[in-house]
Amino acid sequence: MSEPVRMRTPRLLIRLLDIEEAELLLRYRMENREHLRPWEPLRNTSHYTLDGCRQTIEAGLEAARSDRGFPFVMLSPDGGEMLGSFTFANVVRGVFQACHLGYGMARKSEGQGLMFEALDAAVRYAFGPLDFHRVMANYMPRNDRSGRLLERLGFEKEGYAKRYLKIEGLWEDHVLTAKIRTQG
Ligand SMILES: CC(C)(COP(=O)(O)OP(=O)(O)OC[C@H]1O[C@@H](n2cnc3c(N)ncnc32)[C@H](O)[C@@H]1OP(=O)(O)O)[C@@H](O)C(=O)NCCC(=O)NCCS
Repeated sequence: MSEPVRMRTPRLLIRLLDIEEAELLLRYRMENREHLRPWEPLRNTSHYTLDGCRQTIEAGLEAARSDRGFPFVMLSPDGGEMLGSFTFANVVRGVFQACHLGYGMARKSEGQGLMFEALDAAVRYAFGPLDFHRVMANYMPRNDRSGRLLERLGFEKEGYAKRYLKIEGLWEDHVLTAKIRTQG
């Protein structure tokens, strides 16, 4: 993909992070450690170090270059603060043209419609420049907020997978949803 990987919405700048911006990621991870913990895999200590953040960013840039995944961050319009993140991961091309979408945002930025604003633009980007036909997003049944968000975005339920992802050290059931490109 030759286009720059970035989007602007009324309240957000959305793009990949550069290695020199590792401090933004570290601050976000530290501030939201407890908030994100129930919805994420167990993290090792390097997740909360500057070096660990640099490694995450480097791996993300390499994934985007090789069309394996796109780990976007949501920044304040001046780029000075990280408010959330989402990733198009597990890219499969060919007859599938699909990926998984994962997301999370800062506790202080919840409840303002910012994730909806980001993902609404991102899904259009996924069906446009990134050329996906299917974006899949899955959530734990008790994650009502996430379920409501996906419903508003037009994701449809496709199934229920038992013991699907290891979240906070436990294999958790997930509701499976997807949004499918209607044209092309
Ligand atoms: C899931 C998550 C991203 C949802 O965040 P969110 O802020 O609720 O999502 P939205 O951007 O859709 O915002 C909707 C909320 O903003 C409110 N809102 C305020 N202004 C709004 C506006 N201009 N437009 C739309 N909604 C607005 C809505 O009323 C709604 O609030 P409510 O849920 O209290 O009714 C967030 O809770 C999160 O990061 N959770 C932890 C990680 C996680 O669960 N990740 C997903 C794993 S599957």
